[in-house]
Amino acid sequence: MFSFDSTDEITRMAKARSQFVCQNCGALSQRWVGRCESCGEWNSIIEENTASGIGAQAAMGARKGRVFALEGLSGENKPAPRIVSGIGELDRVTGGGFVPGSVILLGGEPGIGKSTLLIQACATLANKGHRVCYISGEEAVAQVRLRAERLGLSKAPVELAAETSVEDITATLMQGERPALVIIDSIQTMWTDKVEATPGTVTQVRGAAQALIRYAKTSGATVILVGHVTKDGQIAGPRVVEHMVDAVVSFEGDGGHHFRILRAVKNRFGPTDEIGVFEMTGLGLAEVSNPSALFLAGRDASAPGAAVFAGMEGTRPVLVEIQALVAPSSLGTPRRAVVGWETSRLSMVIAVLEAHAGVRLGQHDVYLNVAGGLKIGEPAADLAAAAALVSSLTGSRLPPDTVFFGELGLSGAVRPVVHAGLRLKEAAKLGFAAAVAPATGREGEKPAIPTRSCGHISALVADIAAGSAAEKPRVAAGRS
Ligand code: TYD
Ligand code: MG
Repeated sequence: MFSFDSTDEITRMAKARSQFVCQNCGALSQRWVGRCESCGEWNSIIEENTASGIGAQAAMGARKGRVFALEGLSGENKPAPRIVSGIGELDRVTGGGFVPGSVILLGGEPGIGKSTLLIQACATLANKGHRVCYISGEEAVAQVRLRAERLGLSKAPVELAAETSVEDITATLMQGERPALVIIDSIQTMWTDKVEATPGTVTQVRGAAQALIRYAKTSGATVILVGHVTKDGQIAGPRVVEHMVDAVVSFEGDGGHHFRILRAVKNRFGPTDEIGVFEMTGLGLAEVSNPSALFLAGRDASAPGAAVFAGMEGTRPVLVEIQALVAPSSLGTPRRAVVGWETSRLSMVIAVLEAHAGVRLGQHDVYLNVAGGLKIGEPAADLAAAAALVSSLTGSRLPPDTVFFGELGLSGAVRPVVHAGLRLKEAAKLGFAAAVAPATGREGEKPAIPTRSCGHISALVADIAAGSAAEKPRVAAGRS
């Protein structure tokens, strides 16, 4: 056991006026090091002044604490009235509109369309009579105006400014009527005089975010902070902001495709698995209300190696094509490349196919691609991926009117997945006539389309090899 005099300790901490902060992960250290001990990043440690930090306050702090009342779990609670943006796909992701007084972090790669989406949301809300402020720290007012003009939104009464000082911004916003929505584009460009660090550093981003969050909580305005993410998908710097905000929404998509996906990563006021789908057009972002049709557009159903996966994104079923290419390898270690799915998941499916269905892929390069640029996170895609792999290997095409879904266990068993009914309904809506899916074990429920239940991976492989998956569906084809 050891003990120390806490007053001495605090005084000592206050005297050490600088600390070293990793700009990548936010880890603190007491001395400068070339490589962050926490995240392993090189040259990311910067010395920062802590004169205004916690230690300093504690040392100065003769303030006596204020007594506050504690409350019970039950009590009068008015559900917060939400501000519906009118852009359906955006409202879906926020969980039914913006919650007053909440702070949302919108992350995305530069150029993905964050500013475009937000100016469109601003214009829609402003046209409905809400006070909306758009603060740009990256573009000049003229540039934002030019974009609004291109989008045909210049008539909307949005209040615009190009500012970067958080104190100036909050002071300005406090004047007049409380805004319903405030956009800060982007948090990396903001700075506060409360902390001594260059704009863009972790300390500044954290300080600026704190001030803006305080503004949102006290005023009741919804604040959206834009944050740029780096190539590896991390919200650069603002990663340290993620835990402070109420919701984190990421805007994804790749340059080669026109559509963009808005995804709730964290949401204190709604579900986190919802997605909104948009298409980038010459006139800004357009909502896509039927994503399956978009993802399946241009599908070549006559080629082997393509299987349609009936997936779920949040509460919404989405059909997407999974393409596989299996080719003899000239390399000692064959290549495995995946776009839109997890590499570890592909390795597992390949291992299960080898071990339980006699499908030998050890001498083959394997490429797997989720068409359209969608990223699948569900294990339910296992069965569709396996079907695409076997189809490509054997050269026998899969029936074009069939969808696949089901999770593979390491034993080769095909395990049931959630929302089978919704998946089948979506497939029926898009004109699919059959499905290969795990046995549900529930009798009596009539599926939307004839469903062949597949209990084991070997049954699927046998069917594809025999080219019989197109036959009339029969029940319980596999062993389970
Ligand atoms: P932007 O909203 O500036 O991206 P971010 O704020 O995330 O950095 O979007 C820029 C891209 O969007 C740019 O490459 C051009 C494209 N774009 C269109 O295709 N159509 C449009 O109507 C607009 C405004 C932008
Ligand atoms: Mg922008």
